[in-house]
Amino acid sequence: MFRFILSLVALAATATAHCEIQHLREAADAYLETQKAGQVAISAFQARFDNKTWRGYYENSNKLNISTGILAKPLNVTHTRSLYDLSNCATYTEAIVNSTTDPYVIGAQLRFANHAINRVDSIVTKPGDWLFNITGYAYWVTQENWSEIPEAQRDTREVIRAAADAYCDLFNNPNVTVPWGTPCVRLEGGLYGNPGPNGTCAGGVPSGVPMTRRRYVIDETVGSVEVMLDFGKSKWPDTHQFRVEKGKIRYEHMAIMLCPRRRPLNETDPRASFPTIVIV
Ligand SMILES: *[C@@H]1O[C@H](CO)[C@@H](O)[C@H](O)[C@H]1NC(C)=O
Ligand SMILES: *[C@@H]1O[C@H](CO)[C@@H](O)[C@H](O)[C@H]1NC(C)=O
Ligand SMILES: *[C@@H]1O[C@H](CO)[C@@H](O)[C@H](O)[C@H]1NC(C)=O
Ligand SMILES: *[C@@H]1O[C@H](CO)[C@@H](O)[C@H](O)[C@H]1NC(C)=O
Ligand SMILES: *[C@@H]1O[C@H](CO)[C@@H](O)[C@H](O)[C@H]1NC(C)=O
Ligand SMILES: *[C@@H]1O[C@H](CO)[C@@H](O)[C@H](O)[C@H]1NC(C)=O
Ligand SMILES: *[C@@H]1O[C@H](CO)[C@@H](O)[C@H](O)[C@H]1NC(C)=O
Ligand SMILES: *[C@@H]1O[C@H](CO)[C@@H](O)[C@H](O)[C@H]1NC(C)=O
Ligand SMILES: *[C@@H]1O[C@H](CO)[C@@H](O)[C@H](O)[C@H]1NC(C)=O
Repeated sequence: MFRFILSLVALAATATAHCEIQHLREAADAYLETQKAGQVAISAFQARFDNKTWRGYYENSNKLNISTGILAKPLNVTHTRSLYDLSNCATYTEAIVNSTTDPYVIGAQLRFANHAINRVDSIVTKPGDWLFNITGYAYWVTQENWSEIPEAQRDTREVIRAAADAYCDLFNNPNVTVPWGTPCVRLEGGLYGNPGPNGTCAGGVPSGVPMTRRRYVIDETVGSVEVMLDFGKSKWPDTHQFRVEKGKIRYEHMAIMLCPRRRPLNETDPRASFPTIVIV
């Protein structure tokens, strides 16, 4: 009897975790179309919300009325890439607005229940945010290889996630061994590391920076995991996206939002203790 109940529970868990790629793609597309149009109320996006289990719309860790957030502003999205997590029913979309007057880099997670969206979590960065440089960001993403990984060479979700966790743990524990790839390149705000064959991500990692409240989206087909988290003791809203090949980190995209304290630094500002990250 006990065994029977257990297998029923297992079946139920499988059933709720099941989601279809087509459905996730449509949801991410609806999100992007809404951002481009700046029309939330009449959008096919909001029509996909599960209002019963709704957990909120977040921008930079702030819970907002979706109608008053960035989605209400039409943006010319010039480049985009999405991850589809079939095991956890989630998507992550990176959207770049390469504009000379009003640029953005946005990362947004969508979470689902009952095949409908029940949480939106985004990091919205713009000029003034940490290392933000749209020219650099828009250029370097196009130079990287994020294509699908042939099935036989794919890493498991566990391996991909472990690589990201090792990286995030390293910021608070210098003894952690991170599976660095060779080469490995970081894109931070708009600053790029060495894209050559000797590029490394191992240098310039600060210490004493806990990375907490990690929320993952993992897509094995492209060897990628995106982790949304609170960066450091000040809990800056942050996103890190990794490309992992054969268990090793190949690319990393990092965006930290200093909001709501988007002001120039001075020595008594708590942000002045922000660790200096030197790209090598
Ligand atoms: C949830 O509420 C929104 C806004 O009222 C509505 O547009 C949408 O159709 C609702 N979603 C569902 C699945 O009923
Ligand atoms: C969200 O904002 C819109 C537009 O200002 C408003 O119509 C709506 O009532 C607000 N929703 C909530 C839950 O406050
Ligand atoms: C988007 O780009 C088009 C063509 O480059 C331009 O006409 C339009 O004003 C832009 N829209 C916004 C919201 O920046
Ligand atoms: C922004 O990035 C571009 C391309 O890498 C670079 O040429 C430019 O100097 C950077 N601007 C600043 C202010 O760092
Ligand atoms: C981004 O916009 C600038 C200014 O319009 C343009 O020179 C540059 O080529 C664009 N970058 C990409 C990667 O399209
Ligand atoms: C891009 O990455 C894929 C997966 O690792 C690989 O099969 C392909 O050869 C790479 N393409 C280039 C141009 O390096
Ligand atoms: C890292 O290793 C050193 C040397 O073994 C040890 O003294 C230190 O406590 C370790 N640090 C952490 C955070 O585990
Ligand atoms: C990479 O490192 C090797 C060994 O140190 C060196 O011989 C080679 O010139 C370097 N390549 C580049 C492009 O810097
Ligand atoms: C420096 O930052 C602190 C803390 O945010 C603030 O109280 C103070 O007014 C700032 N000083 C100046 C000169 O801007």
